Amino acid sequence: MAEFTLPKNSTMKEGKKWPVQKNADGKKPKNTKKFRVYRWSPDDDENPSIDTYTVDMDDCGPMVLDALIKIKNEIDPTLTFRRSCREGVCGSCAMNIDGKNTLACTKGVNEVRGTVKIYPLPALDVVKDLVGDLTNFYAQYASIEPWLHNTTPQPEKEWKQSQEDREKLDGLYECILCACCSTSCPSYWWNQDRYLGPAALLQAYRWLADSRDESTGERLDNLEDPFRLYRCHTIMNCAQTCPKGLNPAKAIAEIKKMMVERTV
Ligand code: SF4
Ligand code: SF4
Ligand code: FES
Repeated sequence: MAEFTLPKNSTMKEGKKWPVQKNADGKKPKNTKKFRVYRWSPDDDENPSIDTYTVDMDDCGPMVLDALIKIKNEIDPTLTFRRSCREGVCGSCAMNIDGKNTLACTKGVNEVRGTVKIYPLPALDVVKDLVGDLTNFYAQYASIEPWLHNTTPQPEKEWKQSQEDREKLDGLYECILCACCSTSCPSYWWNQDRYLGPAALLQAYRWLADSRDESTGERLDNLEDPFRLYRCHTIMNCAQTCPKGLNPAKAIAEIKKMMVERTV
């Protein structure tokens, strides 16, 4: 049987176990939760490690992001993660919690049984700790030209759209570009240099489905490629993980259908 040895710098080691903090009365807190958090810094030659923190949940908000903020403010200021809106709108707190990509600000601590395990989104280069490098992800988004294309003279007021046409954008416009779907997609893990991934493709379809856009042919030409679109094998991880309840796989299937329809 073939045996493979992982490169030395790819193995994870046990990190620091941070002491339990006493509460305001100087006593040990009774209602605590353990968090095991991925740590890696580009500033030294160390392998990644998993640090363990114990948080007093009687003195903490209910979401995983609340606990991370408490850890950063009160236990370990070096812990690095992204967050902004703290209400599921900006997409910046996306990370892998309890084995699933999701938003730390909308994931309740009590939804996780036992220890909460937190890693950065998979398949991205790590910038530091829980921060993944989204440079390629945003470049792919830019490549689908996410703005209205048309040559009709600008109307005096607004571009009009019927209620039925507007409804075709439901399930598409709500995407917050958190990257949970793309980084959960096995095809994207292996081919992210060439496959656009579910997030960019859902956005591509958002413009293909817009009755006001006049570049349908050019947009489809831009996607007609064995890798950019056709690496989706309908594995459906994207739809299962999307924290906004969207279905990128369905949008991808609609693009493939448009490709077929324009050739017959
Ligand atoms: S489709 Fe869902 S998971 Fe994917 S980027 Fe948009 S909001 Fe995030
Ligand atoms: S359905 Fe397509 S895009 Fe979604 S996870 Fe599967 S391969 Fe990736
Ligand atoms: S902080 Fe904005 S989505 Fe979580």
